[in-house]
Amino acid sequence: MKRREFFNWVGLGLLASSLPVAIAACTSDSSTTASSTDDNTANKPPAKNWQKVGTVVELDKKGQILLEDSPVGAVLVIGTSKAVKDLVAVNPTCTHQGCTVGWKKDQNRFVCPCHDAIFSTDGKVKGGPAQKPLRTYQTKIENGAVFVQPV
Ligand code: FES
Repeated sequence: MKRREFFNWVGLGLLASSLPVAIAACTSDSSTTASSTDDNTANKPPAKNWQKVGTVVELDKKGQILLEDSPVGAVLVIGTSKAVKDLVAVNPTCTHQGCTVGWKKDQNRFVCPCHDAIFSTDGKVKGGPAQKPLRTYQTKIENGAVFVQPV
């Protein structure tokens, strides 16, 4: 066998033996892509996830929970654990110019301290300069904690 033929056979042998490795590498790329897709899913807004915003003890003590930096956005929960079906949760950021609305229990509505926009418990505009409703959340109580989920 000539030297040139020998190297051709060795080269072919190396190519053949590395083929499974190359296929495995391609398969690994696919799983990396899939995991990358999973990461993209994780980066989606947590809009559909329940978010803990406080405890039942806190809610029952104050009649409300205000959390301005929740991962789902600002949250204001009104009510008590004794009437779970009546819990109300809104994003208290006023849709006019972004002030934080306050809950007026005696008037059963949210009122903005900046320009007096008024919102009902379902977030709809009832008066003032705001044109858009407050965003609302579903609520639930589980294991002593209060959770919200964007509607
Ligand atoms: S910012 Fe709320 S009414 Fe203007």
